[in-house]
Amino acid sequence: MDRYELKRPVFLIGFMGAGKTSVARRLARTCGIASVDMDTYLERSAGRSVKEIFAEDGEAGFRDIETGVLRELAGKDDPLLISCGGGIVERPENRELMVEAGVVVHLRVTVDEAESRISNKESRPLFGDLEAAEALRERRMPLYEQAADHSIDTAGRSIPQIAHDVRRLLEEGGVLCPLPA
Ligand code: S3P
Repeated sequence: MDRYELKRPVFLIGFMGAGKTSVARRLARTCGIASVDMDTYLERSAGRSVKEIFAEDGEAGFRDIETGVLRELAGKDDPLLISCGGGIVERPENRELMVEAGVVVHLRVTVDEAESRISNKESRPLFGDLEAAEALRERRMPLYEQAADHSIDTAGRSIPQIAHDVRRLLEEGGVLCPLPA
C-alpha cells in the first residue's frame, strides 16, 4: 500500500448512488489516508439510523444534525477524506463551509445508474420513485456544480476507475501528497 497524506479535507459530494462511500473507502485503502462516511458517523453519534431520524425529526431535524457533523469533521486537525450525504449541498451554509475548508469533488451520476448501484433504497428516505429522484437530482445539480472544485462523470465507470480519477486530480492539485519513505 502507498502512504499518502491529505493537506486539506476533501469532500466527495453527489447524488445518492454516485459511489461516494465506495470511492472514499477505496482511496483510504490504496493511499493509506483516513476517510469517514458522514452518514455512518452521524448514525453512530446520534445513536439512530438516518431512516429513524427522518421519521422522528423530519428532514429539517436531519439537516441540523448533518450540519453539526460536517462542521466537526471539516475542522479536524488531521484532514479527512469525507464522503458526504447526497443532500449536503441543500444548505448554503454547508456549501460555504466545504468550499472554505477544503477541496470539493462532485461525482456526477444519472438516476438510472444510481438506482442500479443502490442496494438498499429502504435506507434512503428521499430516493422515492424514479421520477421523484430525477426531479431532486435536477434541482440539486446546480448546487453540486456550484460547490465543486472538480466534477467527475461516473457513467459506465467502475469504483476503482473513479477512485483513480479522484486520486490523480488530488495529486495534481497538491492536496494528496506522498509521505517520505
Ligand atoms: C440524502 C442522502 C443520503 C442520506 C439521507 C439524505 C439526500 O446519503 O444522507 O438519506 O438528501 O440525498 P447518500 O447520498 O450517501 O445515500
